[in-house]
Order: sequence, then C-alpha cells, then structure tokens
Amino acid sequence: MKVDGNSYRTIWRADNGSVAIIDQTRLPHAFEVVALVTLDDAAVAIETMQVRGAPLIGATAAWGMVLGLERDSSDAGLAAAYDRLVRTRPTAINLRWALDQVRAALAPLPAAERALAAARLATEIADEDVELNAAIGRHGLDLIRTIAADKPAGAPVRVLTHCNAGWLATVDWGTATAPIYMAHNEGIAVEVWVDETRPRNQGAALTAWELGHHGVPHTVVPDNTGGHLMQHGLVDLVIVGTDRTTATGDVCNKIGTYLKALAAHDNGVPFYVALPSPSIDFTVADGVREIPIEQRGAREVTHMTGLADDGRIETVQITPAGSPVANYAFDVTPARLVTGLITERGVVRAARDALAAAFPERVAAA
Ligand code: MRU
Repeated sequence: MKVDGNSYRTIWRADNGSVAIIDQTRLPHAFEVVALVTLDDAAVAIETMQVRGAPLIGATAAWGMVLGLERDSSDAGLAAAYDRLVRTRPTAINLRWALDQVRAALAPLPAAERALAAARLATEIADEDVELNAAIGRHGLDLIRTIAADKPAGAPVRVLTHCNAGWLATVDWGTATAPIYMAHNEGIAVEVWVDETRPRNQGAALTAWELGHHGVPHTVVPDNTGGHLMQHGLVDLVIVGTDRTTATGDVCNKIGTYLKALAAHDNGVPFYVALPSPSIDFTVADGVREIPIEQRGAREVTHMTGLADDGRIETVQITPAGSPVANYAFDVTPARLVTGLITERGVVRAARDALAAAFPERVAAA
C-alpha cells in the first residue's frame, strides 16, 4: 500500500541483506523502517510487537529462519532457530504454520543449501500472503457490492472492524481491510467504524492510520460503542480478522471480538471473519478450550502512550498504583455467531463440513 506516495509492503529483504520491517510500535506518530539482522532481532520484533498481526508474524518468522540459517545452517542451527521463533507468541497459528513449512522444506537439504532455500521460501510465503489477501478482498468485495446495491444511491456501506487486520497486519492488503480497500478503489462509498481496541489500541493507532492514508472515510470509536451503533442501524456488517480459526469455525481474535459478535447477533448484523487458510488450525476443534490465549503484561493496561500537546510522545499511568490487572490478548467467538468466513476460496460457512470441503488438502495434512 502507499505511504506518502511510496509503495510499501510490511516486510522485505533489503539490499544489504538485512530484513526490513515497519516498526508498528512507533505508529501512528512516526513511520520508521527498522533492519532485522539476526534471528534474535526477528524474534524480538515479534515479541515486542514491532510486527504483529497473524500473517505478518508468520512471514517475519520465516525471514527469521533465513537470518538464523545464514549464520548456522546445521541441523542444530535449524532446530535452534525454530525453537526460538515458535516461542515468541502463542496464539496466532500462522507463526507455527510458517515455521513448519520452512523446517519441512529445509530439513532434507544439505546444510550448505539451506539458507538460500529458506530465503526462496520466505519470499514465497510473503508473496503468497499478498495473493491470498487480494483473493479475500475480491470475495469480500462481492459482499459489499451486494449490500451497496440495496441502499439508496451513494449511501455508504458502514463496516465495523476490531483491532488491526489491515495491511500492517499482513504483508499487504490486510484481510478484513482488503474488501474495504477494493470497494473504495472501485468507487463504492464505504465508511468504517474503527474500534480503538484497548489496551494496545491497534484500531486507533494502526487501522485509523492505514485507512486515513488510503483516503477511506472512517471514525474511531471507543471499544464499547459497537452495540449502540448496531442498535441504531448504523452498522451494515462487521468484518474482523483472526489469529486462529478452528476446524469447526470457532474464531479466535483480539480481545473484545466476541462481544462484537454477540451484539451483531442480537441486532441481526452480519458478522464476517476474513482469513487466509494459514490462519486455520485443522488440529483444533473447540476454540474456547483448546486455543492458548496470550496473557500480556500489566503495563499495557495500567499505562497509555500518546502524543502530548507539546509534540512529545508521553506515557502516563491511568490506574491507581497497585490495582491488579488482567490482560488477556484474545478471545474466541463460537462458530454459531459467525455469518461467514471470507477466505481466498470464497465465503465459507463457519462449520467443519464447509471448511473441510473448501480446504480438503489441509484437512488431509493435519
Ligand atoms: O495482538 P495483535 O496485534 O497481533 O493482534 C492482531 C489481531 O488480533 C488481528 O485481528 C489478527 O491477527 C488478524 S490480522 C490479519
């Protein structure tokens, strides 16, 4: 996508051999490209959320393997790189998916050939993510077109989204945002309600930044506003992303997604999840009981960071000193609350039979 006239992906190999990323902890106040030089740089970038979003976590892990193997391509080096990266974040399945792809392809090769093969594969994983998201965009665009056709001419289709499942969360296009960008590009009026997404504010900081740079009309709302908007007929559909969707269609995504799905259900608002197939975990059936939910540090809840009036970036405490805090990063929306899964192969019912019919090769491999 374009930033100030220049086209960017979120991760790329730089000419000097490092891997370049956009530091998402600095957005929306500063746009900074950071170089990852070592395996550990890649692991820390995922842990500290300089890169985040399930597909981008997967792509960064693949490039982390490359950086690791360029230093040590032995069997021990391959195992150590995998082990370091797989521990970085627990919930997004794209991480393990990407690492498994790389390990399976490299293990049979002579050590001397591994680094080059890993770089080819990391490039393929990143390129494939762009293609998958573009396909998701085209299928989601059909949904938006249908809704637009039922509205008075020029009336906007109002989409609510949670967290950031935009191009910053992927290699390009985004999952939830791909249909929105495509609709906007073809002249369909779309307006986006952007949940702020406490505690890390990925909606307020990242989704709003993306949409603004692309000229898509949007309004940031506090997290608890969605139900009210839906009761007043101000949301035509919800589109969110996912960190892991089960074989039965349960959807794990950023904390608060479940409450949006409940509100959508109660108000008859369609609730869609946009996802590339690497976000489906065919080994898991019961999302609530089986998906590990990341618990993050208290400081994300007790403190907020933003731009002070004098232009300095400031962090302030918002809770009383000593109040205990819980910080669950994700929740699970049961399949029964999901209207449909917008995948690269079309809109699929959130149910085991429908997912198995759409992705038979993935079921066989699981
Ligand atoms: O904690 P984050 O910022 O990595 O969480 C991101 C999300 O929850 C996204 O919705 C999800 O990864 C899908 S990204 C296309």
